[in-house]
Amino acid sequence: MNKVTWQSPSNIALVKYWGKYDNQIPANPSISFTLNASNTTTTLSWKEKDADENFDFEVWFESQLEDSFRPKIEAFFNRVNHMLPFLKRFRFKIETSNTFPHSSGIASSASGLSALSLCLASMAKSLNIPHDEDFYRFASTLSRLGSGSASRSVYGNLVVWGKHILVDGSSDNYATPLESKVHSVFENFQDTILLVDKGEKQVSSTVGHGLMNGHPYASKRFEQASDNLSKMKEILSSGDIEAFGNLVESEALTLHAMMMTSNPYFILMKPNTLRIIEEIWKFRKQTKTPVYFTLDAGANVHMVFPEMVKNKVDTFTRSKLVGYCKNEEYICDQIGQGPRQL
Ligand code: DP6
Repeated sequence: MNKVTWQSPSNIALVKYWGKYDNQIPANPSISFTLNASNTTTTLSWKEKDADENFDFEVWFESQLEDSFRPKIEAFFNRVNHMLPFLKRFRFKIETSNTFPHSSGIASSASGLSALSLCLASMAKSLNIPHDEDFYRFASTLSRLGSGSASRSVYGNLVVWGKHILVDGSSDNYATPLESKVHSVFENFQDTILLVDKGEKQVSSTVGHGLMNGHPYASKRFEQASDNLSKMKEILSSGDIEAFGNLVESEALTLHAMMMTSNPYFILMKPNTLRIIEEIWKFRKQTKTPVYFTLDAGANVHMVFPEMVKNKVDTFTRSKLVGYCKNEEYICDQIGQGPRQL
């Protein structure tokens, strides 16, 4: 059997992707930073078989055969089949594990689908199957077809996905690293992930994005996200950390506001999500520490801050926030350099 292993990180969006068209085309551009410690490691092994109508694969998660992942991977194989026309000629074994706790509520689709896409891109390369000459762009395109946010995990640091007039090379089909100047305050930028709710996702991403179809505020929101990306680009270069925090918090609340005002409607924040946000606001006001929150489509809080205030914020986390976390669990992460082939 031939095999390849990639480790790929999760990412946290600063300007959120929420709403998509057919074929995983985003309704608005987004920007995220790639994390460092929150990773999925995937080994893909393959063996030639007689080509037939079916995809043939098994999935192992943390050393257990895991059939619940099959539908997502089957759907992914169907979407990428035209780019990887050899898929039905092989039998695959996919072995995957995460560095973050199982069902921590951390979105594993970005790290998981990007790790698998990188493995498939490596396989295509080893078989000399024609593909995009830019390996990472090809892997990002595959990742997007698995999960939109996964397209951004293929690169380190700050990454844009979705066509935007001010970002050279940006595309709806794949992500691109932000090449413009970034102020030193964002170097080694920190993300402490406070695990409020570790249960199953209340709204799957497919249903979630679907809520933007026919949403009364959709077109205004897509326009706003694009404007916010222009503003974010400027802020990242000037280092205006207050403006950064204002924009990031507003994006997080807007994402949740979209969910609260769709039909059906959802409240994904939990009481402890709000308590943590209030504590962060109080701490920021009292100590003038530049610490801000952002949210995914769930109850967990990502607390983001510059490295220079790390000691202060870690003390604050231990004294004021840990009690609001499920089983007192939180993850200290920071901006990372992107995937690695192992
Ligand atoms: C709220 O990438 O999980 O995290 O494309 O359907 O797989 P699919 O959606 P997904 O959506 C992520 C949405 C978000 C915001 C973001 O990461 O930009």
